[in-house]
Amino acid sequence: DKAGHKHFMAKEIAEQPQVIGEALNHYLPAGGAEVVLPGNGIDFSRIERLTMVACGTAFYACLTAKYWFEQLARLPVEVDIASEFRYREPPITPGTLALFVSQSGETADTLAALRFCEGKAAQIVSVINVPESSIARESDLALPIHAGVEIGVASTKAFTCQLTVLLMLALKAAADRGTLDADEIADHLAAMRGLPQALNGALDQNDEIRAAAQRLSEARDVLFLGRGQMYPLALEGALKLKEISYIHAEGYASGELKHGPIALIDKHMPVVVMAPRDDLFDKTVSNMQEVMARKGKVVLVSDESGIAEAHEGTFATVRMPAVHPLLAPIVYAVPAQLLAYHAAVAKGTDVDQPRNLAKSVTVE
Ligand code: F6R
Repeated sequence: DKAGHKHFMAKEIAEQPQVIGEALNHYLPAGGAEVVLPGNGIDFSRIERLTMVACGTAFYACLTAKYWFEQLARLPVEVDIASEFRYREPPITPGTLALFVSQSGETADTLAALRFCEGKAAQIVSVINVPESSIARESDLALPIHAGVEIGVASTKAFTCQLTVLLMLALKAAADRGTLDADEIADHLAAMRGLPQALNGALDQNDEIRAAAQRLSEARDVLFLGRGQMYPLALEGALKLKEISYIHAEGYASGELKHGPIALIDKHMPVVVMAPRDDLFDKTVSNMQEVMARKGKVVLVSDESGIAEAHEGTFATVRMPAVHPLLAPIVYAVPAQLLAYHAAVAKGTDVDQPRNLAKSVTVE
């Protein structure tokens, strides 16, 4: 049942405020001043390093979470693609927490990576959407993301629910390790409570996003740029566009632009810049100006004050609500998803069942 939407993907994008609200309710019970995990939970004060392993979109959720765990909890983090991790024989120290992220809980490479860590890691934890799945069953602790069934092959609501759970975990880690005090944690959690409203604000920009997507749908190649915690979102935006519209897209860290990809920029190249007005905004804007100086067509995704400051010379702007800096990757996921969705609809591709792709990759 598509609930009045043309595609499951559109329905699942629209559901994000509600399902993220559910995820918050599950992990922040009773007033929500602290993160409560099921079962025996995790004691991050005993953990020396975190190893996160996943594939595809779930891997990009892990890459984003690395910024959070390092910054908030001062925990060293390694993130890897499951199909690389499992064959590399990485040394797993006894103080390592091994964390696996998988919507389906059945991805063969992720499951194999989990099995590789059995008997080596201090604890095996998974962040999953399907509680009965193999990955959930074989973990010491399985943390559901509460996204509900996801039917569209391109992952949308599972991604933002993964991010929501991972950010709560990072705040739990900060509490256990004493790297933030109780007031700071309460402030961050209160900001997270505002996520459903912020996501609604992002969804309200659908018309603006559709207009920008029209331009993307005519392109042969598209670049996505982001800096800091917006860099993994640039990778995710490019993946979404590739998989459902079949337009070649690449995500780059803004600062890497001049180390190669800038050679691609000409008047035919749309460049989507994910730039909330945070501490890194000015740096990203200067990379964006380098693109415009070479006639690249910039789509700037920012908040009111960022757009006021930097809109000059852009091809299009997409206005996001102003949010707490930690929440930006979750809120800006909405335009990343909708850009791909509308570009695919404009091209007339099969949005929910893109060619050559399966929802659950149970082969290696
Ligand atoms: C992209 C997408 C895939 C999955 C990947 C992992 O939209 O859906 O990249 O994220 O196949 O799947 P799970 O999370 O089920 O392990």
